Amino acid sequence: MSNSPSKIEPLSRVFRDSFQVREIARRFGTPVYVYSEELLEEQADEALAFIEAPSFKVRYAMKANPNANILRLFQRKGIEIDASSGDEARRAIAAGIPPGNILLTSQIIPQEFIDLIRQGVNYNACSLHQLETFARFSNFIGTRDISVRINPGRGSGGTKRTNTGGPSSSFGIWHEDLVKVMDFIRRYSLNLRRVHTHIGSGSDPEVFKKTCRMSLDIVARFLYGGFPVTTLNLGGGYKVGRMSYQESVDMQEVGSFVKKQFEDFQRKIGLPLRLEIEPGTFLVANAGAIVSEIKDIKRTPRYTFLITDTGMNEVARPTLYAAQHPITVVTRRDKNPFKKTGEYVVSGRCCESGDILTPSKDSPEELQPRVLRQAEISDLVVIGGTGAYCSGMPIAGYNSYPAAPEVLLRKDGSMDLIRERGTLKQLTQNEVKVI
Ligand SMILES: Cc1ncc(COP(=O)(O)O)c(C=O)c1O
Repeated sequence: MSNSPSKIEPLSRVFRDSFQVREIARRFGTPVYVYSEELLEEQADEALAFIEAPSFKVRYAMKANPNANILRLFQRKGIEIDASSGDEARRAIAAGIPPGNILLTSQIIPQEFIDLIRQGVNYNACSLHQLETFARFSNFIGTRDISVRINPGRGSGGTKRTNTGGPSSSFGIWHEDLVKVMDFIRRYSLNLRRVHTHIGSGSDPEVFKKTCRMSLDIVARFLYGGFPVTTLNLGGGYKVGRMSYQESVDMQEVGSFVKKQFEDFQRKIGLPLRLEIEPGTFLVANAGAIVSEIKDIKRTPRYTFLITDTGMNEVARPTLYAAQHPITVVTRRDKNPFKKTGEYVVSGRCCESGDILTPSKDSPEELQPRVLRQAEISDLVVIGGTGAYCSGMPIAGYNSYPAAPEVLLRKDGSMDLIRERGTLKQLTQNEVKVI
């Protein structure tokens, strides 16, 4: 197989060793999501060190992994929240996040947005319609402070589907509509406090830097127009390599670039400007892994398939984007001392040919076998890099498989269940019997 990577990926850093993987499988069953408290904290510290400035703020894009314990872990670190829907905002409040620490940036106006803003949630208008609706209700809401998300005209994502800037993206208000935004804000006597841009997930750091400058130009236009913007939020999207051959963004390098841009801006304009960023992937992706079990092994003249008890139900990214995740076989016992290898296509358990964990990186429709440790039925398989957009973005309930549990590996080596395994009853309890 000419296009198969020959390098075996190391075991995810979430685990101390393969004994720990086996213990988790024994205690909690498979499939199971596992997160490392230590790695989550490490990532939080690195994000908080992006730039050194007292007014600098990190918001966690909770869509990446909305488990309440993870929200509270980041809250303890002084990280606030980016919520993408009214329900996410409510979920964060229920987890104990103060409403004033939440910025709500949603594609649609949440049904109870007035109530959320009244509670103190900050609202980021993502369209002219959203801005006008906020304006019309501002007397009831009790605040005229508003933030606007602008599409700066350029985007960048790890894939086209995660690019959220430029003319092919509906996210935010198109940058050429600034005059309309200004008209609204004047007409309804709103206070524009924050400008927000987010150009995509897994963005190219060079494009991010360019759009940082473009975003500062947008802030300058508002300031010159007489709108006292105090904050620029540059969104998230910081690239994270999950496979050992993939590169991760150098946060310090990008941070010092951004810091310099802000300093130059302040020198020119004569006003201080606060910076916010809102990473999701960066904070959680490599702090999470899935432990699953090989349930079957099947062969065709072309491929050997490992059929696991996980797949698109728990990790949709390979099916959606041909995302590459490190996969490691952990044998049930320490047999195979010669560390023999094999070439395998790793498959999920669903009745769906797209349920493949090893697609070609160019297309979710093509298979790309991986070199793995030689495997047998009942061996374990660890899927790394699954802390972000996995448990929170599942293809849930397909084939009636209930949601997998989540476990937090504590710094002292103990293990806490932070979400129980779902049940079949939960999948069917809202059905209404009419036949
Ligand atoms: C508005 C906004 N902010 C932040 C993020 C987080 O992006 P990432 O997880 O790539 O850091 C997203 C993700 O789509 C987003 O839409």
